[in-house]
Formats: sequence, C-alpha cells, structure tokens
Amino acid sequence: MKRPSPFLLERYFDAREFATPWLLCASDCETRSVGELLSLEPGALERLLALDLGYGTSRGPEELRALIGGFQSGLSADDVVVHSGGEEVILTFCLAELEAGDHVIVHSPCYQSLLELPRSIGCRVSTWSADLSRGGALDLDRLADLLSREKTRAVFVNFPHNPTGFLPSITEWQQLVKLVGESGARLFSDEAYRGSARHDQAELPSAPTLDERACSLGLVSKALGLPGLRLGWAVSRDEDLLARMTAMKDYSTICSSRISEELACTALRNAAQILGETRERLATNRQAAARFFEAHSESFEYQEPIAGPICFPRLRHGTASDFADRVLAECGVILLPGDVFEGGAGHLRFGLGRKNAPECFDRLASCLSRN
Ligand SMILES: Cc1ncc(COP(=O)(O)O)c(C=O)c1O
Repeated sequence: MKRPSPFLLERYFDAREFATPWLLCASDCETRSVGELLSLEPGALERLLALDLGYGTSRGPEELRALIGGFQSGLSADDVVVHSGGEEVILTFCLAELEAGDHVIVHSPCYQSLLELPRSIGCRVSTWSADLSRGGALDLDRLADLLSREKTRAVFVNFPHNPTGFLPSITEWQQLVKLVGESGARLFSDEAYRGSARHDQAELPSAPTLDERACSLGLVSKALGLPGLRLGWAVSRDEDLLARMTAMKDYSTICSSRISEELACTALRNAAQILGETRERLATNRQAAARFFEAHSESFEYQEPIAGPICFPRLRHGTASDFADRVLAECGVILLPGDVFEGGAGHLRFGLGRKNAPECFDRLASCLSRN
C-alpha cells in the first residue's frame, strides 16, 4: 500500500477553521455542548458519571448498535459495527475488501478518502462523474457502461452528496443498487448525511436494506451535529464482511471511546428532536442562500441542494481559491474552494447547517458590494 496523498479538504480546514467565527462552508450542522445533549433526557448525566472507563467491545455496545440499526431504517444490532468516526469506516472497508489491481468505481467529486484509499491500495479507479451543471444529477447509463467493461470489485457512492447536496429519487436509488448488485460488485454507500433530507419520508432506505451485500456508513457528525464525539458505524447484512472490517479495527482504534458511545446513545434516543431542529435550521438557511444567490447571480450559478447541509455553486469569473482568499482577508468569512475536490474546480462549497449562516451571507454580501 502506498502512502495516501494529503487530504486537501482536511488540510484546508485545519489551517483556517477556527480563524474566524464566520465559517460558511462546514458540512456539519450546528453542534451542541455535552450539557445541552445530556439535558435532552432525565438520568443521562447520572449514566455518564457511572460509566466504567475500561476498554469497550470491538463492535460496540448492543444498545448503541440497536439504536443505530433503527436510525439506518430497520436494521438490527447484529448488522452494525461501531467505529470512531465515519472516516474509520472508509478505512476498514478498504483494508478488508480491496486488493491491488481490483477495479473500483467512485462517484465523483467526493470526500477524498473514497477515492484516495482505493488508489493507495493499488486499485484501478474509474470515476463516475456527477453532472455539476444539473446540481449533481446521476447518469445511470454511464454507470451501467462502466460496470459492463470489466469485473468491478466495489462501487462507492455518497447521498445526500457531498459537495452538491444531490439526492436521487427513490426509483433512481433502487435502480442504482440493483445495477451494482447484479454486476457482482459490492456497493459502499456513504450515508454520512442521513437525517438531513427535507423530511423523514424523503430519506432514502439505507443500502443494506435493499441489498444484503451492500455496506453503508453512518455517523453522528453531520445531521446530529456531534462531530467531536468521533463516532460512526458500518452497517451490512453480510456478517463475513463485518467480521473482516472489525478485525481491521484492531490496527486502528481497537474500540471506540466509551464516553462517545454513551453520548451517541443519548443522541440517537433523541434523534427525532435533534433532526427536527436541524431540518428547521436548514430550511431557514436555504432561504438565506436563495436570497443571496439571487442577488448575486452575476457572480454565481446556484442550484438549491435537494438535501443535506451543503451546496456547490459555480463561480462565474475568476478562480475559486483566489475568491475564497479575498473573502477571508476582506470580511473574515471562510469559504471552501472546489479545487479541494477532484473534479470540483471553479465551484465553491457553502455550508448551510450552522446557526450563523444568515449572518455569514450578510457579511459576504456587504463585502462583495464594496468591490
Ligand atoms: C461524505 C463523507 N463521508 C465521511 C466523512 C467523515 O466523517 P467523520 O467526520 O465522522 O469521520 C465525511 C466528513 O466530512 C463526509 O463528508
């Protein structure tokens, strides 16, 4: 395995994320304090204080796995392996499932590790491009064509999509899962943004409910707004795959933080309330975004995201990184140039999950009006 290249988005955030309070490109939704989370249910503080800090189990506690099974639309505790963040799931899946020389297909642009880890392992990677001129729309014929050319080991997708906010219709999603399953490839479905569709009925069924060989990734970092817990999970109905992924965890974190597991249980028991707040904020912020982009249509080509806390407008003039540098220097608003995504040059990622997004848009508007 060769060393993965630097993760451009993570390096960009590491250098800027806390430089100003006006972060208008985060993919997580408004976060909360430990106290706010514990206040969601009686007895949560006492349970936390009584927690023993020994090692936990490799797969994670039964209660948490059962809650996750429910969150992933009707799966069971046995279908779940708890991980330390979504990122670890991508790592254990790639280590457990891929070998040098395997052909894999990755929907792109995407969160870099979905492309980079298969490449580091020595896989032959074909990218399946989202149509950025149509908000990230899918071309299923193109996927069928890629699958027909050679035997494919795995197909990586992510919906709601980072960075466009695209969400396929249920029919498209079923067609995609069927296409991949019938080809013999394994579907890796990154469902990091589950819970951020406009309402419950708009959420897609988790991939393993449609195909028992599929593996999905979930986490508490985005719609539940708890990235600091570093807690995620792999879900599949293929026990052999889960066992192999669990064995890979012995070389990364062994088990997750007991404190995070306990707090994740509290969050998932109260998911309806947390997601209700998330969806309300996203609706408000989508309106602020719509006003801003309408007033600045000479600078941006904007398509409203179907789901999720992010969108990926195209900048009409100049480079996205020059624009982001200038905006940060002149008004302190942090934007993410699309160049950090392979295939995303010329676009900027905006984040709509934070409470201060309307204020950030106002600052950006007054900065642009000065030029
Ligand atoms: C699509 C996608 N997958 C996985 C991750 C990693 O999640 P975590 O921060 O929980 O490790 C992210 C984070 O931004 C993401 O956008």
